[in-house]
Parts: sequence; structure tokens; C-alpha cells
Amino acid sequence: MNERTALVTGANKGIGKDIARLLAAEGLTVYVGSRDRGRGQRAVEEIGAGARLLVLDVTDPGGIAQAAAQVDRLDVLVNNAGISPSLAPPADTDVEEFRRTYETNVFGVLAVTNAFLPTLRRSPRPRIVNVSSGTASLTWSTNPNPQFTPGSGGAAAYRSSKAALNALTVFYAQTLAGEGFKVNALAPGLRSTDLNPRAAAAGGDPAEAAQGALRLALLPDDGPTGGFFSWDGAPVPW
Ligand SMILES: NC(=O)c1ccc[n+]([C@@H]2O[C@H](COP(=O)([O-])OP(=O)(O)OC[C@H]3O[C@@H](n4cnc5c(N)ncnc54)[C@H](OP(=O)(O)O)[C@@H]3O)[C@@H](O)[C@H]2O)c1
Repeated sequence: MNERTALVTGANKGIGKDIARLLAAEGLTVYVGSRDRGRGQRAVEEIGAGARLLVLDVTDPGGIAQAAAQVDRLDVLVNNAGISPSLAPPADTDVEEFRRTYETNVFGVLAVTNAFLPTLRRSPRPRIVNVSSGTASLTWSTNPNPQFTPGSGGAAAYRSSKAALNALTVFYAQTLAGEGFKVNALAPGLRSTDLNPRAAAAGGDPAEAAQGALRLALLPDDGPTGGFFSWDGAPVPW
């Protein structure tokens, strides 16, 4: 396969599906990552030209290896799959809840990225976009941003998992900078999806967030790496 190729994890719905749609519209071949074959296939049919199904559960090491073996070209990896099972502060959150959240949002990203790195390394312009969250910003958490409840300490498992993802973003960017990689984290803003039904009232369109991912996925050679950016391109403090 000679066309520029992308993989978006968790692309069967929500922000991920919109990211896949925009990448396909740019002419890339896009692997729609989905842990469920049927849901993934429906998204592939909806997106149309350029979309292909890749069955991928980011918490399944064997499945990740199988998926990586099916992809022989990759220029863009969007680590989008994520879960947010609890809104509780740490004092009210079971350790298992933290483990489960980190399994997808942190270890899943690590496992998928490492599995696809050999293929990304063959790209002339490798790009990695980690879909994080503004709620992971410790600066915003301590100097409250109106996007979320100031100083509540809520959604601790989710927010700390995305803070860990931000750290991974920096470390991958540093490790891979000499090889032409651009590795950045995205704060998509509040979006009305199954993960965040509370955002429905705010009416956040997932497609708007996907534009931010597209920008980071197609960064030019003089673009930034190791950064944290809002969907509109503005830098987000760590
Ligand atoms: N919505 C927001 O306001 C918001 C704000 C900040 C950040 N984000 C981030 O944006 C990303 C996308 O979220 P969303 O809002 O679009 O939520 P969503 O509609 O719930 O989509 C989440 C996607 O991740 C997939 N997924 C979950 N666990 C997975 C696993 N183990 N392996 C593979 N795929 C898995 C889901 O697949 P299934 O359909 O199989 O469950 C789904 O495709 C997440 O990383 C989220 O943290 C969202």
C-alpha cells in the first residue's frame, strides 16, 4: 500500500469516528480501530472511501500484535480510545477503578504505540496524536478553568490517567524527535458523546474536536512536537 495511512483507535463512534472521517476525506487510507467487529464495520461503511476495519482492543496484547501484523504502512497513529467510568474523587474510588481506567487510557496507548512503532518508523513523516483531555491539565485543575468544576478533584481516575498520557506524550516526543516524529496531545474540549453525556447540554460537536486531531496528524516538518494543544490549536498548560 503506497498511500498515506492512518490508524485511529476507538474509531467506531464519537470523536474517533469523526477523526477517521476527516483523515479519509484528506485522502489517507484509514484503519478504523474497533474492538467490536460489527460496530467497526458499520463505521467503515458510514465513512466510505478510504476506510478499512482493524479489529483492535487496546487492552488485549495478543490482539494488538495481530492487528500490527496486518498493517504494513502507517504514517499517522491517533490514540483516541478511552474510557471514563467514574466521576468520583480519589477518596471514593476503588483501586480497581483506577487500574481499569489506566489499562485503556495509559497502558493501552503504550502497548499500541510500541506495537506500531516499527511500521511508523518507516514513514517519511510519522505523526502520533494522543487524545487527552483539558481536565488532565494540572495547571487548569489548580487554577480553575470554567470548562470543569473548579478544584472538585472529581473523575480522579480518568483525569490522572490523561495526565499520565500527557507525560507519555512528552517522553515519546523526546525519544523520537531525532527520527522526524511529531508526537502531541490533544484536548478535544467538551463533546457530546457516549463518554460524556453531560456535554450534551453544552452541545459540543465531536467533529469540531476532530479538526484539532487532523491538524496534529498532518503537521508539517517544522510543526511542534511534545506539546499539548486544544482542538482550536491553542496551547494547553500541562
Ligand atoms: N467527549 C468529551 O467531552 C471528551 C473530552 C475530553 C477528552 N475526550 C477523549 O476523547 C476520546 C474519545 O472519546 P469520545 O468522547 O468520543 O467517547 P466515546 O464516544 O465513548 O468513544 C470512545 C471510543 O473508545 C473505544 N474504546 C473504549 N475502550 C476501548 C478498548 N479497550 N479498545 C478499543 N477501543 C476502546 C470505544 O469503543 P466501544 O464502542 O467498543 O466502547 C469508542 O469507540 C477519549 O480518549 C476521551 O477520553 C473526550
